[in-house]
Amino acid sequence: MNTQPQPSGQSTWSQRFESALHPAIARFNASIGFDIQLIEYDLTGSQAHAQMLAHTGIIAPAEGETLVQGLEQIRQEYREGKFTPGIEAEDIHFAVERRLTELVGDVGKKLHTARSRNDQVGTDTRLYLRDQIQQIRTQLRDFQTALLTLAEQNVETLIPGYTHLQRAQPLSLAHHLLAYVEMTQRDWERLGEIYQRVNVSPLGSGALAGTTFPIDRHYTAQLLNFGGVYANSLDGVSDRDFAIEFLCAASLIMVHLSRMSEEVILWASEEFRFVTLKDSCSTGSSIMPQKKNPDVPELVRGKTGRVFGHLQGMLVLMKGLPLAYNKDLQEDKEALFDAVITVQSCLEAMTILLQEGMEFRRDRLLAAVSEDFSNATDVADYLAAKGVPFREAYNLVGKVVKTSLAQDKLLKDLTLDEWQSLHPAFEADIYAAIAPQQVVAARNSFGGTGFDQVRQALATAKARMN
Ligand code: ARG
Repeated sequence: MNTQPQPSGQSTWSQRFESALHPAIARFNASIGFDIQLIEYDLTGSQAHAQMLAHTGIIAPAEGETLVQGLEQIRQEYREGKFTPGIEAEDIHFAVERRLTELVGDVGKKLHTARSRNDQVGTDTRLYLRDQIQQIRTQLRDFQTALLTLAEQNVETLIPGYTHLQRAQPLSLAHHLLAYVEMTQRDWERLGEIYQRVNVSPLGSGALAGTTFPIDRHYTAQLLNFGGVYANSLDGVSDRDFAIEFLCAASLIMVHLSRMSEEVILWASEEFRFVTLKDSCSTGSSIMPQKKNPDVPELVRGKTGRVFGHLQGMLVLMKGLPLAYNKDLQEDKEALFDAVITVQSCLEAMTILLQEGMEFRRDRLLAAVSEDFSNATDVADYLAAKGVPFREAYNLVGKVVKTSLAQDKLLKDLTLDEWQSLHPAFEADIYAAIAPQQVVAARNSFGGTGFDQVRQALATAKARMN
């Protein structure tokens, strides 16, 4: 970013200004280093504005056509790598206007009639975010598809379920995976709702107060496929609620991805050994030859922090900001861009991880659920179903667990005599009732982990995808 500003010979500002910006201030002020990312949206927005100017008779039809063509030519130049504006342009809006005037002559100077950079940058940012939201929603669908594929293969695979990170009750692995499908479903829906509020046109708000020209804001909104227009010009140029809402949604996506990341990191550890990481998604250590590290979920967990930071930054940016546009608002872009690219890259990496980066170790999972006391609730439920008050049954089973632990036994190792000496209600079917597969199958309440419920949930989730 330390490029010296080029003396342009051409002054940006009106003749009120007598001398040029201090070079360091020019660098400090410029946003071209990052808002170049908005170029395609800036061109599209300007083309709509030019068409509107011609449509309303503010400029001649031929002039409108010239502007639209010239802007299209800049698009081509940019795509071919030939348009690389430097710091002298200050920002993408000036860069485009200047190049346009070089290309089409004085008529280029008419483009900015009845417009300000304030409504222009707001338009660009919304057009950009609309596209990014659509892409993230598609990526959420891909992530869900990967989860559903794994879930389908693992309805009857069991995995220990935890509360307080202590073994609680066994689960269908599919049920566990489907929890993430639900979380990301809310993410997908939330982004759809936010999209509605991103998709509102501020174009034509002018600098802050509207314009003296007979513009048609609905015409540009329609050309740009906006769902509506800002009703108040001050709000139009200074609202960044849509960016904050997006950053909230992005933060929640990262919360969900980071929770899954943490689980995968645990599962891949020597202590759990529930998954094996494939070489395509893990790295080694430069010194410890035995190591295989879960870099993908670790990076996702780590990147979560910066997205939260951008949300906080944007809230503070907006707090107490007087109406209407203030240059502070130029600071919205890097935060937004970084949050977008972070969420997109994390979703892509996690989807690949699910698709081909890890393998569940069914042998280890089965051993895990067979060798613990996570069926203790089922013993209490067994007694309760036979009329023993649950709290009484609960206390009794606690005692059984205690003595079994002391004898290094599991519940399945108790003899029928031992069971019956604990309570006469125990019968031979206690063994079937506490077998892990049955423990899971029996939790058939709506939304529970019972296999029938899981199959239903899978079908619902799949149907929802279309
Ligand atoms: N580069 C500016 C931004 O990103 C464009 C708007 C500038 N408006 C102004 N009144 N200086 O916010």
